Amino acid sequence: MGTSNRRLGIVWDMNLTTTESIRVLRQLQLDSAKTQTERNKLGQFATHPALATEMLKYAKTLLPSASKIRFLDPAFGTGAFYSALLEQFSLPQIVEAIAYEIDPHYGNEAIELWRDTPLQLNITDFTNAVPPNCDSRSDPFGNRTKANLLICNPPYTRHHHLSRVEKLRLQRITEEIAGIKLSQLASLYCYFLCLSDAWMATDGLAGWLIPTGFMDVNYGQPIKDYLLNCVTLLRIHCFDPVDVQFEDALVSSAVVWFKKALPPVNHAVEFTYGRSLTQPKMSLMMSVESLRGAAKWTKFGLMSERVISQEQSLKLKDLFTIKRGLATGANDFFVLKPEQISEYQLPMEFLKPVLPSPRLLPVDEIKADDLGNPILDRQLFLLSCELPPDEVKAKYPTLWEYLQMGVEQGICDRYLCKHRSPWYSQEKRPPSPFLCTYMGRQNTGRGRPFRFILNHSRATATNVYLMLYPKPALAKVLLDPSELLKEVWQALDRISDEALMSEGRVYGGGLHKLEPRELGNALAGKIVEVLSKQSVD
Ligand SMILES: C[S@@+](CC[C@H](N)C(=O)[O-])C[C@H]1O[C@@H](n2cnc3c(N)ncnc32)[C@H](O)[C@@H]1O
Repeated sequence: MGTSNRRLGIVWDMNLTTTESIRVLRQLQLDSAKTQTERNKLGQFATHPALATEMLKYAKTLLPSASKIRFLDPAFGTGAFYSALLEQFSLPQIVEAIAYEIDPHYGNEAIELWRDTPLQLNITDFTNAVPPNCDSRSDPFGNRTKANLLICNPPYTRHHHLSRVEKLRLQRITEEIAGIKLSQLASLYCYFLCLSDAWMATDGLAGWLIPTGFMDVNYGQPIKDYLLNCVTLLRIHCFDPVDVQFEDALVSSAVVWFKKALPPVNHAVEFTYGRSLTQPKMSLMMSVESLRGAAKWTKFGLMSERVISQEQSLKLKDLFTIKRGLATGANDFFVLKPEQISEYQLPMEFLKPVLPSPRLLPVDEIKADDLGNPILDRQLFLLSCELPPDEVKAKYPTLWEYLQMGVEQGICDRYLCKHRSPWYSQEKRPPSPFLCTYMGRQNTGRGRPFRFILNHSRATATNVYLMLYPKPALAKVLLDPSELLKEVWQALDRISDEALMSEGRVYGGGLHKLEPRELGNALAGKIVEVLSKQSVD
């Protein structure tokens, strides 16, 4: 079923109120009247009604019962959250509902839709709006009061879509209003979150549906500092990236809950992961102190308490030097099949076996023939030559001819080739006995994002693999008994997907990637168990 049909299904499938059904339908029509590029620029990806309801239901459990609500949604769209607010709270409870929406395309429709309700929707840029200055419940002078319930799915607009002038303006006002200095790389949602501080009443509650990016990248640090030092961070729920929250915007998202009050001493934050906000798959309490010292946060949702307590133990980087496989700069030219080698009569001394990409590798254990070549249906060889051009031309005319084809095709001018000398030489990557795939999805036939490969051959690998070279102490014990090699490989394979995924990064749609450093941070307990039978100095 296409995205639109699936979303249209919401209208009929769910037990929605009439207005909500109309809203969802209108949302769908309004979305389809825009191009994907237009929607990306303004971050126009609506919240699923079921999630909006879940968020408002959850907010209700955090608020004192029967409290009077002053609601704010700074990025309204057609009002998924407002609709859920009306569902969860009685009208007399809602004393005020303020919202902003920059795009009249959605805004005008929303005004029409919610005409008979207390909504005050401003069709203007929230980041330009002046925050209220009154914190108290009843201001005798009729000044605008701050919100005590802010629920928002802000535009995720990446910094590339913000002009330099716009970024400078946002940076300046965020610093003026919230005292937070954001990096030029920050996405628009970071500015929304910081600026909203001035709109929240003391002890007010905020629930932000935002990308998980800020938790792991450098530009997110000021946001993390804000969450740990300026407010009381209550909970972060990370959705399972396989279960993308916005079908058409490829991001993995989280809901961040906090209270506008300084954190109590010894405060702990709840990290939950997976399934739904109300029934997460995993849950873990993390002290503010430990969060302060942690560079990446997404892993806390994923990890079990047991794994975290082992943080200080031996890691893979203590046992292996881990390198990304080699980047040829032009695989079509440098990675050759035996037929191509004989067609161009290339000298074998400049060809080394190389593994095919994981997609085309049917086995996880690679056996070798007498020459050390991998026993695989698909044999591939990497062309690499260190000799200077004059010598190649004089001594290896067929290779010279082949290289001239590379010159004619402009391969020698490609970035990576240009930075090698000679351009047809390759990085040094001797074969490694263990390899790990560099990226993968969880929702494939194998069901696991990463594969560990045991390589008995002398094949090297390109950068779709990470290569694990045993450090001297481990290499020493692996020298004789080949059984142990296999056991170490099996132990690598027993490292849980969660542990690996929590070290790496994840992209929307559930594509996981592991850089060498990140794989190096995975715990080596399983290998230590195997080695403990042997003596490793
Ligand atoms: C991610 S959508 C969320 C819409 C709605 N609240 C929901 O959850 O379905 C973000 C909305 O913010 C609007 N928006 C983008 N930039 C804005 C700005 N500077 N001020 C106010 N609204 C903005 C977009 O047009 C879009 O409707």
